[in-house]
Amino acid sequence: MQIDTSKPSVARIYDYWLGGKDNFEIDRIAADQLTKLVPDAVEMCRDNRAFLKRTVTLLAEAGIRQFLDIGSGLPTQENVHEVALGAAPDSSIVYVDNDPMVLVHGRALLSDAGHAWVVEGDIYDPGGIVAKAADRLDFDRPVAVLMLAIAHFVTDDAELSRIITELRAHLAPGSYIVMSHAFAGERTGDATVQGVQEVYAKSAAGGLTPRSREQIGGLFEGMELLEPELVPVKSWRTSTPPDYTKPTTIGVVAKL
Ligand SMILES: C[S@@+](CC[C@H](N)C(=O)[O-])C[C@H]1O[C@@H](n2cnc3c(N)ncnc32)[C@H](O)[C@@H]1O
Repeated sequence: MQIDTSKPSVARIYDYWLGGKDNFEIDRIAADQLTKLVPDAVEMCRDNRAFLKRTVTLLAEAGIRQFLDIGSGLPTQENVHEVALGAAPDSSIVYVDNDPMVLVHGRALLSDAGHAWVVEGDIYDPGGIVAKAADRLDFDRPVAVLMLAIAHFVTDDAELSRIITELRAHLAPGSYIVMSHAFAGERTGDATVQGVQEVYAKSAAGGLTPRSREQIGGLFEGMELLEPELVPVKSWRTSTPPDYTKPTTIGVVAKL
C-alpha cells in the first residue's frame, strides 16, 4: 500500500500534534490551519489519550483481556498494548487502521511484542475487521472495542449507526465499546466549526461530523453506559467539571 502525500492524513495530523515525526508538510499545514481555528486542539488530543489510558486501565482491572483498537493511529507514548499489558500482562491487543503509514510503523513497533498485532481494516467493514482479528481474539469471550477519535470521520449518521449495530452483533455479553467523538455543542454550524469541517473535507478521511450527546448516546441503546455516561473526555471520571460551551470530545464507555 502506497503512502499518499497528496492529501493530509488524520493519523499524521494527530501524530504531529502529539509531537511525533511521522508526518509531512501537507499534514503540518492542515494541522496548523486547525489549531488556528481551535487553539485547544493539541490539548484535546492529549485529553483524548488520557481518557484512553484511564478506560483501558479500568477495563483491564474489570477483567477484560482482549482489546480491539479500531483507528489506532500512529504509535505514540503509552499505546494501548503498553497500558493494557501494564495492568494485565495476559492481555491480547489487535490494532486496526486503514492508513498505510500506521500499518508500517505499527508492525515495526510490535514485531517482537508477542501480545499485540496490527491488521489493516476499514471501520466501514466491521465484519471484515472481526474476521481478521479473530485470528488473535476470541469473540465468544468479552472484548473491549476502542473507537477513539475515529467515529466522527464517518460523516453519514445512518452509516455510523449501521457500523455500530453490525459490530455489536459480533460481540459477546460483557464486551465494551469505548468511544470518543467530536462535539460542537453551542458552536454547531458556526464559522469555526465549518472551517474545521472544510479542512477535514480535504483530508484523506474525507470529512468530519461532530455529533450531539444524544446522537452519540443513541448508538448504544440497550447497552449500559458507565458513569458518568456522556461527558467531555477531560471530565470522564476526573474532577474537571464538564464544559459544553466550546468544541470538545465526548467520551463514553458502553457495556453489552
Ligand atoms: C485521530 S486518529 C485517532 C488515533 C487514536 N485512536 C487515538 O484516539 O489516539 C484517527 C485514526 O483513525 C484512522 N481512520 C480514519 N478513517 C478510518 C477508516 N475508515 N478505517 C480505519 N481507520 C480509519 C486514521 O488513519 C487514524 O489513525
